[in-house]
This record gives sequence, structure tokens and C-alpha cells, in this order.
Amino acid sequence: MILIKKLETRDLFLKKAKNAINSVRYGNIYERLEDTNNKDIKEITGILNELFESITDREKMIRENIERENEAKILKNDFMATLTHDLKVPIIAQDNTFDLFLTKKFGEITPIQEEVIKKMKISNIDLKYLVDTLLETYKIEQTNIEIKRTNVVLESFIKDIISQLESIYSLHGKNVNFKNELPSGASADLDNFLIKRVIQNLILNAISHSGHSENIDITLKKNDKDSFKISVQDYGLGIDKREVEKIFKKYYSGSTKFSRSGVGLGLYLCNKVVKLHGGKIEVSTKENKGSKFTVTLNYKE
Ligand SMILES: Nc1ncnc2c1ncn2[C@@H]1O[C@H](COP(=O)(O)OP(=O)(O)O)[C@@H](O)[C@H]1O
Ligand SMILES: [Mg+2]
Repeated sequence: MILIKKLETRDLFLKKAKNAINSVRYGNIYERLEDTNNKDIKEITGILNELFESITDREKMIRENIERENEAKILKNDFMATLTHDLKVPIIAQDNTFDLFLTKKFGEITPIQEEVIKKMKISNIDLKYLVDTLLETYKIEQTNIEIKRTNVVLESFIKDIISQLESIYSLHGKNVNFKNELPSGASADLDNFLIKRVIQNLILNAISHSGHSENIDITLKKNDKDSFKISVQDYGLGIDKREVEKIFKKYYSGSTKFSRSGVGLGLYLCNKVVKLHGGKIEVSTKENKGSKFTVTLNYKE
């Protein structure tokens, strides 16, 4: 009789202990075993409860650390976003001042002065796009970023981007040619702000790396019935075979002596934005012949 009772108590305890261990294992970190008068079981109950206690302490510590880290991340991102935004204001003011000089609103300027001011204007615009790219990258790296799609008429969308860049490509002595092979009026649901940044970055890269060649060709064309392609082609320096696989990496910036580079966030951002849209970005390139970057996107989400 006593033996049966003992076995029952032991089985019951084993069952309870098993449940408690599983419960703690699956996250219920406050689960504990009831104390008992049975001497053997009392000891094991104590050991298990101590073990659960230390798991609880560690789990709490980990949770607190994660929380602190997330707060720091948000603070850092907020700080960067505010900083980059504030940096843009004086850059734009300077750009306007350069324009006033170049349009002779402050009086005549000598050819040498004109040349210098044009160069300052170019670096200033580079700086503005760099700040934009930094801002966008920080935004996109915040958790749960959502893209905001609106319906965009593709032909005018690309034309507008090109015309907004006219001052910079003409200062560099480049032509940007646009060919639309889609039916006019074709439209797509895109985050127009972010895709604009992608196309801008590709054109700015083409300008920076096109060497002595003048032309940059932008083409809008059909891919399949659900998707289309935007390509940006230059006939400049091209990209070394060993370099191609690295160019979409964060902070990767090539080291050619003949072209200007930034901090290596442009293509990283392009790739992120295009992927958020469910699309893809590809490059075909040949050294000293040029590069063609092609973005494929769906018309609808
Ligand atoms: N059109 C291009 N022709 C040649 N090389 C390019 C072109 N676009 C990008 N690259 C290479 O890819 C690198 C990464 O580009 P990107 O991410 O825009 O960074 P960044 O322009 O700041 O260097 C560039 O430094 C350059 O070496
Ligand atoms: Mg770039």
C-alpha cells in the first residue's frame, strides 16, 4: 500500500516537473513547482526552482538589454535623420548663391571665377545627393519600414527626374537621352519618392563613371505582362569583373583613379528599395565600354 502511494507521488511529481520544464522552455519564465513535504521530492523541487529562478534572471537581463539596444537604435536613427535634414538647408542655400553668381546677379565674373564657381556648384550638388542618400539609408534601415505606393505615370516620372538633374549633367558636359518603349500613359504602383532616388543614384553614378563619353541612355521597356524595366546605360569606365559582385554592398566604393566616388551607399540603397518593391536590379558591364544598370519592377504590388 505504502509502495503504491510512493510510486503515485513520484509519478505525479515527474509529470508536474516535466510540465514545468516545458513551460519554462517555451517562455513562461515565472513557472515554479509547488513545495512538498516529501523529503526526496522536496530537494529536487528546490533545485529545479532555483534553476528556473536563474533562467528568469537571465531572460530578464536579455530582454532589458534588447530594449535598451532598440532605444539606442531609435535615438541614433532620429539623430541621424535630423542631422542629415538640417545639413541640407545650408547646402541648398549655397546652391542658390552659386546660381546668382553664375547668372551674374552679383555683377560680371571672369571666366576663371566662373570655372571655379561651377566646380564648387558640382561638389555642392554631390554633397546634397550624398546627404539625401544617407538620410534615405537611415530611414530604410529602421525596422518595419513600409513603402508608400501611388500610381505613377512612368514616362513623365522618368522625364521629370532627368530634367531635375539637368543642371548637374550639363555642368559635367553629358547628354542624357530617354527612350520610352512602353505605351504612353503606362503607369505603375510605386513609392515614387524612393524609386526616384534609385533612378537619380543610377544617373549620378553614370555621370561620375562615364569618363570622356558624353551619352547616357535611359530606356523604359516591357519585361513581361506584369513587369517593366528601366535601364541606365553609360559608355564609360565600366566595372572590373572582380569588383562587380561587391558594388551593391554597404559602404563599398570603388577605387578607380578616374572617377569620383562617394561613401558607397548609393547602390546599396537602390538594391534595398527595389527589393522592398519585390523587384530586382542587375548590372551588365565591360571595362572601358560602359555599364548598364537595369531595374525590373512590377506594375502592381
Ligand atoms: N555606372 C558605373 N560605372 C562604373 N562603376 C560604377 C557605376 N556605378 C557604380 N559603380 C561602382 O560601384 C561603386 C559603388 O557605387 P555606389 O554604391 O553608388 O557608391 P559611391 O557612388 O558612393 O561610390 C562605385 O564606387 C563604383 O566603383
Ligand atoms: Mg553612387
